[in-house]
Amino acid sequence: MGGAITDIPLAAGEDVVLYDTKGRRYLVKLREDGRYHSHAGIIEHTDIIGMVEGSVVKTSKGLEVAVFRPTLLDRVMEMPRGAQIIYPKDLGSIVMHADIAPGMKVLEAGVGSGALSMVLLRAGAIVYGYELREDFAQRAEENIRRAFGESVDWRVTLHDVYEGIDLSGLDRILLDLPEPWHVVGHAERALLPGGILLSYLPSMDQVIHLRQSLERSRFGFASTYEVLQRGWHIEDRSVRPDHRMVAHTGFITVARLLAVSTGKFRSWSMSPVR
Ligand SMILES: C[S@@+](CC[C@H](N)C(=O)[O-])C[C@H]1O[C@@H](n2cnc3c(N)ncnc32)[C@H](O)[C@@H]1O
Repeated sequence: MGGAITDIPLAAGEDVVLYDTKGRRYLVKLREDGRYHSHAGIIEHTDIIGMVEGSVVKTSKGLEVAVFRPTLLDRVMEMPRGAQIIYPKDLGSIVMHADIAPGMKVLEAGVGSGALSMVLLRAGAIVYGYELREDFAQRAEENIRRAFGESVDWRVTLHDVYEGIDLSGLDRILLDLPEPWHVVGHAERALLPGGILLSYLPSMDQVIHLRQSLERSRFGFASTYEVLQRGWHIEDRSVRPDHRMVAHTGFITVARLLAVSTGKFRSWSMSPVR
């Protein structure tokens, strides 16, 4: 997934994303005999197979639907979910603040539906996933193999990360689970000095607990932020912010492992004004 744009026609066996004129989006695997029932009407897969990306087809109700190969964002938003996913606005920021790069050894716990795993894989990381629930691990595996193919180099282990980390020499540890403070000590041992710990948490009492735990650790330069994204409505002379926006998803806390213990670099301000 994620190769260069191609003008090769869409074929049976491929995933496509369908957009209707009301802003709805559907992720569909093309089959020779497939029919997709959408809010906009029935779409025959044979009307799509053989078309190029960006084509427009008509539904049984005569409504128009545009067809593309799915972007990573399309997949993350439309793939089947077990657990709540991290949303794209936060995923993009996580890649930057955790400084994910090709070949890095990254532990991700919990894997949930696999949204973050997919972004880490796209960035070229070697991803080790821990997950508590077998059904979630299986769902994530299905989503990841559907997006990246059966040969994708990704593994998930059913393991409670609060109990410990049986990996070492890690470059990054990313946590999307309720009590990350239980992982701080394990992360000190599993990460290389200079490594980054990042935690995604929905509520501030959890963040405070984590930050207190980081203060007692070898991690320094701790910072916490959230990402606010506001869309704009731009149509003719009506140009204004959207009436609705996602007000809150999660707080992102990042810290860096020092090679020595010192209380001198506990926190770090993300303010661009210094
Ligand atoms: C919100 S979901 C993660 C979603 C994921 N980041 C994504 O983007 O799709 C949280 C996951 O953490 C798992 N979890 C909770 N506690 C855990 C633990 N101690 N060790 C491993 N996984 C855990 C849960 O089972 C759940 O699947």
